[in-house]
Amino acid sequence: MTNTLTLDRIHTPLADADAAAPAIHPQSLLDLPPGEARQSLLTVHSILEAALPAGPLAIYEAGGGSTSFLPLKVLRRSHITVVDIDEDQVKNNNYAQTTILGDIQTYRFQPKSFDFIVCYNVIEHVPDVEAALSGFCEAIKPNGLILIGAPNPKSLSGVVTKYSPHWFHVWFYRYVRGDKKAGLPGEAPFPTHFHPLVTLGRLEAFARARGLQVIYRKVYESPRYPEMRLRKPLLATLVDAAAKALNFFLPGKIDVRHGDYHVILRKL
Ligand SMILES: C[S@@+](CC[C@H](N)C(=O)[O-])C[C@H]1O[C@@H](n2cnc3c(N)ncnc32)[C@H](O)[C@@H]1O
Repeated sequence: MTNTLTLDRIHTPLADADAAAPAIHPQSLLDLPPGEARQSLLTVHSILEAALPAGPLAIYEAGGGSTSFLPLKVLRRSHITVVDIDEDQVKNNNYAQTTILGDIQTYRFQPKSFDFIVCYNVIEHVPDVEAALSGFCEAIKPNGLILIGAPNPKSLSGVVTKYSPHWFHVWFYRYVRGDKKAGLPGEAPFPTHFHPLVTLGRLEAFARARGLQVIYRKVYESPRYPEMRLRKPLLATLVDAAAKALNFFLPGKIDVRHGDYHVILRKL
C-alpha cells in the first residue's frame, strides 16, 4: 500500500457487513428524475444482482464519497471499502465498513482483493486516470466486475464542463439544480480534469488491453436535462433547442445531450 503523511487514514468502525447494513438507501437512485439515466442505472442494478457471486462480497468504492449508487440488495451483503481524497466526504460516509482518506491514483490494495469495484462520477476529477485504473486492475479478483459511471467529454454538458471555470459549476448546481450547499467543503461540484481516458472509446480500449471484457455500456441523456425541464423549464427549452440545432448540423446520428455513460467491465 502507498502511504503519504496526510492521506491514507483508515477507519474501520464496524466489524462486519451486517453491522452497517443500510436500512434505507444511502444514495441517489431515488433522486434521479425519470429518464435515460435512471433507466440505465436500473439496468446496471439488474446486471450486478445477476452477475455478482452469491454470498458476502468485498467491494471497493473508489472516490466513493458519502453516497452509493449500488442496489441495496448488493450493499446489504457486502463489506464496503471507500477510498476518497476529501476528508469531509469520508467523514459523512455512513454506510461503508472501511473508510480510507486516500488518493485512488496511488492507494494500492493487495492484488485480487475485491469482487467488485465501483468508480462513479469520479474519473473526470482525477488527473491521472491511467494510474487509478491500473490500481483497479490489480485489486480486482478474476471474474470480478468494475463499474464506471462518468460524463461523456464529447457531449454538450461534457464540453461546457471541461471548458468552463469551477465557479460556473458551483453556480449551476446552486441556481439550476437548487443545491444550496453546492461548493461548500465536502459538497459537489468537485474540480474536473477530464483526462483523455474519460472518453468511453479510449477507456474501453484501455480496459481490453488490460484483460477486461466490456459486458455493458450505455451512453445516455444526462439527468441534468430532465432536472432542468422540471426546475427551470424556460432554460431547458433554450438548451434543448440549442442541442437539437447542434444535432442537426453535426455529422452522424449523435445526440449531444448524451452527457453520461455507464460501463461494466469483467476481469477475464
Ligand atoms: C462527484 S463526487 C462522487 C462521489 C460518489 N462516487 C457519488 O457518486 O456520489 C467525486 C468524488 O471523487 C473524490 N475524488 C476526486 N479525486 C479523487 C482522488 N484522486 N482520489 C480519491 N477520491 C477522489 C471526491 O473527493 C468526491 O468525493
